[in-house]
Order: sequence, then C-alpha cells, then structure tokens
Amino acid sequence: MTRSPFDLHGRRAVVTGAGRGLGQGIAVGLAQAGADLVLVGRSGSQCETRDQVAESGRDVEIVDLDVSDHAAIERVAAEVTGSRQVDILVNNAGIIDREDAVNVTRQAWHRVLDINLNGLFFLCQEFGRPMAERGHGKIVSVASLLSFQGGIRVASYTASKHGVAGITKALANEWGPLGVQVNAIAPGYMATDNTTALRADPDRSRAILERIPAGRWGSAADVAGAAVFLSSAAADYVNGHVLAVDGGWLAR
Ligand SMILES: NC(=O)c1ccc[n+]([C@@H]2O[C@H](COP(=O)([O-])OP(=O)(O)OC[C@H]3O[C@@H](n4cnc5c(N)ncnc54)[C@H](O)[C@@H]3O)[C@@H](O)[C@H]2O)c1
Repeated sequence: MTRSPFDLHGRRAVVTGAGRGLGQGIAVGLAQAGADLVLVGRSGSQCETRDQVAESGRDVEIVDLDVSDHAAIERVAAEVTGSRQVDILVNNAGIIDREDAVNVTRQAWHRVLDINLNGLFFLCQEFGRPMAERGHGKIVSVASLLSFQGGIRVASYTASKHGVAGITKALANEWGPLGVQVNAIAPGYMATDNTTALRADPDRSRAILERIPAGRWGSAADVAGAAVFLSSAAADYVNGHVLAVDGGWLAR
C-alpha cells in the first residue's frame, strides 16, 4: 500500500510544553499520525500527555527542561539527540503577561522573551543542527495572531511572537537548502489556560467571538491537524510560512 504523505510512522518528534493545552493536542495528534514522542517541559507537567500518547501505541518519553534555561537546552538536546534521531521539533512552550505597557517591569519583559523567543531560538539551534547535517527535518513553532497584530496589554508577548515569525523565515532561508523546513502555526483565540482571563471577561469574550467567522473559540485539536501537516512529507515544499489556524479571524 502507498504510504500517505501525512504518515509520521518512523519519525520522532520533540514537543515542548506538551503537558496541557495546545502542546498536549499537538503531541497527541502527532502520535495519532504515527510519530514517537519526546515530551520536553517543566518537571512533573507531562504525565497526562504521556499516558494519552501511550494509548495510541507510540513510544513516548519525558525530558525535564525549563526552556528559559538556555544552558540546559544545550545539555538536554545533546542527551536526546546523542542516542536518538529527532525528525521533528515543535516549539510550543510559551507564556503571556497581560499588563498595561506603562507598568511592564524589566523582569516580566525578560521572562516572556526568554521563554517565547530566546529559548525557542536555542532549541531550533540545538535540534536543527543535526537535522541540517543529516539533510532532513521539520521545525514547527507556535506563533500567534500577535505575530501579525499588536494586541492589547500584551507588549512583551507581541514582541516575542513577531520574533517567532522572523526566526521562522530566517531559519527557512538558511536551512531550506539543507533539507530542513521551518514553519509556524498562528493559532487564533483558543480555549486554554493562556486565555482564561479573556474568556472570564464577558465584554472581551463577546467582542472576540463576534469577530471570529467560525463563531467559537478554537481547541487543541484544531491546531493538531496543522502541526501534523507541517511535520509531514506533505509539507516538503512549504517553508518559512506562518499558518493561521484562527477560525477566519485574520480574514475580517
Ligand atoms: N491559547 C491561545 O489562544 C493561543 C493563541 C496563540 C498562541 N498560543 C501559543 O500556544 C502555545 C501554547 O499555549 P497554550 O494556550 O496551550 O497555553 P498553556 O498555558 O495551557 O500551556 C503552555 C505550556 O507551556 C509550558 N511552559 C511554559 N513555560 C515554560 C518553560 N519555561 N519551560 C518549559 N515549558 C514551559 C507550560 O508548562 C504549558 O505546558 C504558547 O506558545 C502560546 O503563546 C496560544
């Protein structure tokens, strides 16, 4: 039987921040498509996802890492890639800080940038290096609508996610000729812990829903399909793209 270009059997994916929310949905989606998983994230956060991945019969392991610890990224990546081939890196771990721009502290600013942007770049570097040497690999980062728009009271987050779009294009240019595709997903408004405050505010929640053509908040499963596509051979000619999965928000 001909292998589906979306089939991920025989591929190993590293997913960061896979313990809940979109990362959990992406990890489970990749496993359902056949990938084996390495769940990289905060200590103690990934057991539920590990059990869900194991249910689909795929190999799965947990590796503890705070992605803002850039020295630890180098050590962990060396450990993981030393004994296994990583074919797919999904940079999902991220945080948001909602604050009026005039009140953002230096510490809070750097915390968001260290996780969402700096950690992401060094993960690309460490896991992308062997991919480029091998001439094969996929990197998928989770960007945001705030890779395109300014947002409200989220200056550090917006800066970080614009940066993610930039890194995606820069690495696509450098590593595309070496056989590595680097893309990103820009989720719209998804019902996860990241948006609890927005969904709890009746006025903001109504205004957001009125603008989404799909008429609902998105789910982790909505993002998983895009992640499977961008991780698969079906996307071999897709490079440097930021794919909105937003129920049509950006079309308005
Ligand atoms: N929910 C949305 O509407 C939305 C929209 C656009 C983009 N995103 C992005 O999607 C990604 C996932 O967000 P989510 O909505 O699932 O949020 P979430 O808060 O539910 O999950 C975030 C995950 O990142 C992990 N994480 C945070 N800091 C970390 C660190 N220092 N080291 C390792 N892991 C860390 C957390 O443990 C958690 O597993 C983020 O990059 C976020 O910016 C979310």
